[in-house]
Amino acid sequence: MVTTEHNVDTTWVMGVEKKRQIPLYAKRDIALVRGEGAYLFDADGRRYLDAMSNYGVAVLGHAHPAWTAAMTEQLGTLTTGHQSFGSDVRALLLDELRGISPEGLDRAFLSNSGAEAIEAGLKFARAATGRPKIVAARRGYHGRTLGALSATAEKKYREPFEPLPIPATHVAFNDADALEEAVDEETAAVIIEPIQGEGGIHVADAAFLMRAREVATATGALLIADEVQSAVRTGEPFVTVAAGVVPDIICTAKALANGFPIGLTLVTEAISAGLPAGAHGSTFGGNPLACRAALETLRILREDDLYGRAATLGQSIIDGITALESRQIRAVRGRGLMIGVELKQKATPVLRGLQERGVLALPAGNLVVRFLPPLVWEQAQADELVTALGETLA
Ligand SMILES: Cc1ncc(COP(=O)(O)O)c(C=O)c1O
Repeated sequence: MVTTEHNVDTTWVMGVEKKRQIPLYAKRDIALVRGEGAYLFDADGRRYLDAMSNYGVAVLGHAHPAWTAAMTEQLGTLTTGHQSFGSDVRALLLDELRGISPEGLDRAFLSNSGAEAIEAGLKFARAATGRPKIVAARRGYHGRTLGALSATAEKKYREPFEPLPIPATHVAFNDADALEEAVDEETAAVIIEPIQGEGGIHVADAAFLMRAREVATATGALLIADEVQSAVRTGEPFVTVAAGVVPDIICTAKALANGFPIGLTLVTEAISAGLPAGAHGSTFGGNPLACRAALETLRILREDDLYGRAATLGQSIIDGITALESRQIRAVRGRGLMIGVELKQKATPVLRGLQERGVLALPAGNLVVRFLPPLVWEQAQADELVTALGETLA
């Protein structure tokens, strides 16, 4: 915790934030001040099991010793460095990324968030095709900057900011025929989340992804996989690639640097070749501290086989929730540690019940309780989650 002349308890923190911030977030009245492994602590010293990793970012949990040591070393070495200069850690990260990138997606653009990774992907698709439009999925979420928002489906996010700059058609998720019908010679890109996150944890059928690939190829459009939320945490680096589909562009962010802000847009050599120097850029993108954060995250995920752990623990959680046989549950969906429990009632009271039992989870739409736990969980934490959910639903 920071040292200060204020008495930093929950009441003081929430009071200042509610008074001084634009009220864009529904505040949960918890002031988080510390984390350790799978747990978070609030300003009053209460402990919570972190089943959300701060919207899917803290894959190594909190204050991971090796990651923290590397970050501390980098802080004392070099934190900022524009991409017009070389950087040892950036080059090491680009080298490490080769281990998780599919063949053909050999060029990277580094930025600072999911929306920026998407924004770059959309710009690159327009530049490569010379076409204006995109096709996206209903319930899809791609971020809040104006380009990314054009791809995002939800009316309440779009309407206050219309007209949006990219003409977009939204088709039903997993409806390959509708997708094929929507794509034409004006379509620059088809953009799809292989697992819809904010939209309620809906997993794309492999057949749908394959048809999207075929349709894009046949019409000269590009296929963009939005793996901002799904990358890394399902047991594979990228869900799309695991389904046997290689897109033209992969956008990711969240988990890549364990919560340190980063965005990554992977593209083909051909797309890269059409982007002259100065066509796009970012002051902070690719800075040494963010690159070190991602480098150490990817190294630890690989060396500790946290991919394997995500797959095993995720299945154990899904099995545990299914075994609760709760009449309030309509469906349990997901893959690895990206799990949604669709309820027959609103999710908010269940989230509140979990919070009262010391578990922090997320909504995904009105009816779905979403779990995005850190990949460093042990079986004990998976059991703790299932028990707390069972008690809450009972
Ligand atoms: C699939 C997907 N794409 C894009 C974004 C936007 O990422 P950011 O909030 O880092 O801008 C999100 C964020 O939740 C996301 O889930």
